[in-house]
Amino acid sequence: MLTRISIGDAELSTQVRGEGDPLLLIHGFPLNHAMWEAQLESLSRTCRVIAPDLRGWGDSDRGSEEISMAQAARDLDRLAAALVGDQPIQVGGLSMGGYVAFEMVRQFPQRVSRLILADTRAIADDASTARARRITAASIREKGVVSLAADMPAKLLHPFTMESKPEVLRSLRRMIEMANPEIVAEYLEAMARRRSSEDLLGQISVPTLVVCGSHDVISTPTEMRQIASRIATASFELIEGAGHLPPMEQPGPFNQIVNAFLTG
Ligand code: MLT
Repeated sequence: MLTRISIGDAELSTQVRGEGDPLLLIHGFPLNHAMWEAQLESLSRTCRVIAPDLRGWGDSDRGSEEISMAQAARDLDRLAAALVGDQPIQVGGLSMGGYVAFEMVRQFPQRVSRLILADTRAIADDASTARARRITAASIREKGVVSLAADMPAKLLHPFTMESKPEVLRSLRRMIEMANPEIVAEYLEAMARRRSSEDLLGQISVPTLVVCGSHDVISTPTEMRQIASRIATASFELIEGAGHLPPMEQPGPFNQIVNAFLTG
């Protein structure tokens, strides 16, 4: 069911499917909830999957608050409150969605009963990465998202996905092309400003799955193994044949690993 949920100054467009323990899935940049299509299909057999478009993405409103990872976490806590009241929920985020999941742990630890960190980073941007993001933001404001839709897939996807899964490439391009350039620019600036989550790693005490595509060049397996090693309650899983987007590239193995984690 696609529904719109008020979080105060905005409504978030949200897919909710299935029954059982709620599982909130937070999308990456510059995507929307449609990246979780295979998880909405499969994981909804055992849990209530909640997949929103973050503020400004997909069909969600931009609202009036400043865009930040911390604000996105506040938005999702409100969304969860509207759907499940005070109940703790299982939270999974990919890449930028992981930055937001970390912020949920920081601000609303009582909300998070389990954590899935997929292809994400705990560190903040260094100065040169932050500068590059601001330059890209300026260029997108001027020229739109066309170059992003053309160039990003090769960075995000495993070469095998690029060559032999045209439907994944199409779906990825469609999500990037439908993104609003101003929103893309604002989130780039928000990621450049985000704080490090390294201080949280030693504090996380809920069961945590750290999962990473074998060929992820953005949040590499080496870096993600280090994240897992610093969380006392974490296990690490590698998804072969995937780049930065295992839920789309290798949905079968990804869903199996997530399902085993959630039901284990
Ligand atoms: C994402 O997939 O959300 C982005 O790669 C995050 C980032 O650029 O840091």
